[in-house]
Amino acid sequence: MKIAILPGDGIGTEIMAEAVKVLNALDLKFETETALVGGAAYDAHGHPLPEATLNLAKAADAVLFGAVGDWKYDKLERQYRPEQAILGLRKHLGLFANFRPAICYEQLTHASSLKPELVAGLDILIIRELTGDIYFGQPRGRRMAVDGHFPGAEEAFDTMRYSKPEIERIAHVAFQAARKRNKKVTSVDKANVLETFQFWKDVVTEVHAQYPDVTLEHMYVDNAAMQLVKAPKAFDVVVTGNMFGDILSDEAAMLTGSIGMLPSASLDKANKGLYEPSHGSAPDIAGKGVANPLATILSAAMMLRFSLNQPQAADRIESAVKAVLSAGLRTGDIWSEGTTKVGTREMGDAVVAAIVGKPAGKTITTKT
Ligand code: IPM
Ligand code: MG
Repeated sequence: MKIAILPGDGIGTEIMAEAVKVLNALDLKFETETALVGGAAYDAHGHPLPEATLNLAKAADAVLFGAVGDWKYDKLERQYRPEQAILGLRKHLGLFANFRPAICYEQLTHASSLKPELVAGLDILIIRELTGDIYFGQPRGRRMAVDGHFPGAEEAFDTMRYSKPEIERIAHVAFQAARKRNKKVTSVDKANVLETFQFWKDVVTEVHAQYPDVTLEHMYVDNAAMQLVKAPKAFDVVVTGNMFGDILSDEAAMLTGSIGMLPSASLDKANKGLYEPSHGSAPDIAGKGVANPLATILSAAMMLRFSLNQPQAADRIESAVKAVLSAGLRTGDIWSEGTTKVGTREMGDAVVAAIVGKPAGKTITTKT
């Protein structure tokens, strides 16, 4: 097994160091190779996704990705911005199926901004289509308007589009995932306004005929945004397009208390995948050793389960994370009165200690 390690920018390098430490504690046989990506790659090689990094990602059995981006690159031409690295990896590796679970850990019920009873036991899965929609649709660009409200004025445009096979394959992924869960899929669209999403709704409905054991409901995206904070536990699997999925997955992440807890997987048709925390590079706290490494550590667990066929190793990581939370250890983003604040490295050490069977918590020094 070969794992490509792409730490990226900001807190990416700090959280990745902890995830690698945890992987190494498992006594599995694998090879890792690290490469630059994002702003770090731009600084060193003039491109956020250098050829060598892309080739490494293609050759590996799985990719573990940290985070990319920093405000200092905001003025660069779009193709050189750090975000292009993740978009390029998704496109070139064909990672069309993005799994973003939103799980509220029992120990963190009080870290959510919602009332505890609304989120206690929350376990929903957002499945976001990741290589189509307005993110990748052509044409796009700037031009002088020839029609519209202001003919002759400068304008910008993007193209929202989905082909039938693109919708079919993500719908299959969602129905199959639902079969392993509570057998309910909510397809989120904007069919009342957009042609693309009326088509989406029609195609998802068609695919549903092959999954009579799964319940399908359709919901407009604005209502879905509202229901997510009103009654999040009513959802099981949510399937939606790239743009709506981007927004709703951040919203869902917040239900759980912290985006710092949430892993994600982006899979191709053969279940080869890229695994990354749902959060970004957080340049404001980068280098301070305070970032929460658990989302990346849990992403490594997802990687073991989905791409490397090591479900037991994945279980060990997930149990270790629960154990350190039960022991009261918290990074700043999930800290609350009565718990022990720890830094990035201490959190990683505690997970490793729990994996190798040492009691977590007791021996950890605390810093605030
Ligand atoms: C995400 C991020 C990315 C996206 C950005 C960094 C390009 O927000 O993974 O959700 O919009 O997909
Ligand atoms: Mg996003």
